[in-house]
Amino acid sequence: MSNARAPATDGPDGTEGPLHVAIIMDGNGRWAAARGLPRAEGHRRGVDALRRVVQASHELGIRYLTIFSFSAENWSRPATEIGDLFGLLRRFIRNDLATLHRDGVRVRVIGERQGLEVDICALLEEAEQLTRHNTRLDLIVAFNYGSRQEIAAAAQRLAREVAEGRRDPASIDADALSRYLDAPEIPDPDLIIRTSGEQRLSNFLMWQAAYSELVFVPIHWPDFDKAALEGAIAEFARRERRFGGLIAKTGS
Ligand code: IPE
Ligand code: IPE
Ligand code: MG
Repeated sequence: MSNARAPATDGPDGTEGPLHVAIIMDGNGRWAAARGLPRAEGHRRGVDALRRVVQASHELGIRYLTIFSFSAENWSRPATEIGDLFGLLRRFIRNDLATLHRDGVRVRVIGERQGLEVDICALLEEAEQLTRHNTRLDLIVAFNYGSRQEIAAAAQRLAREVAEGRRDPASIDADALSRYLDAPEIPDPDLIIRTSGEQRLSNFLMWQAAYSELVFVPIHWPDFDKAALEGAIAEFARRERRFGGLIAKTGS
């Protein structure tokens, strides 16, 4: 994700829609607590919401959809909850991969693989390999992902090249660093949505969000649906993107 300016799509109603939507899927635990259910049930219903949103993304002309599914900091949760979340990821890939593939979805995974269980790594790898030639929608799954960690890893690669005499420090600019992020070929998100009413990035795509429009919605992730996505896109359409310049909209 290296371009500050992603081209926008033609939305279904003729307006310019976001090409790349990224979502911080938050509020599963509170959704469950409000109903007297275990947190795991909130996470399970969160997977249903994800299926709806992938489908809606197709229908709304979104080309890239990034979802924050497990953060580098989520390891601080109780082991049972981590186990539930990993179990859901396993089941999601096993149950939904064939459908995603049939629907032309290319799965990409960003985040740190080291330290993950071997079977999870194998499933992530399988999902990426099977779908790698699909072109209808890129589903970028941020799993064991932290933006600071991603930027630090890129800095480490650049530093190594300098230490080995293969790079001039003067060549290190924003583009050079971008190229060493986890998915450099994906354009930056136009729109970042966070559900549950929290208004922070929580270490999600901080580099790539430089010129993203941020939309915070008060509903918890398990209740998110196509109408809510359309609402966030309508809010995006009302924003004036300037990229530091004076020209309204994308200025392309
Ligand atoms: C989002 O819901 C899922 C993950 C972070 C993995 P939460 O589990 O954060 O739900 P709340 O924020 O406690 O309600
Ligand atoms: C961000 O949500 C991570 C994911 C949605 C996967 P959190 O619930 O972990 O974020 P904080 O702790 O409220 O900032
Ligand atoms: Mg949360």
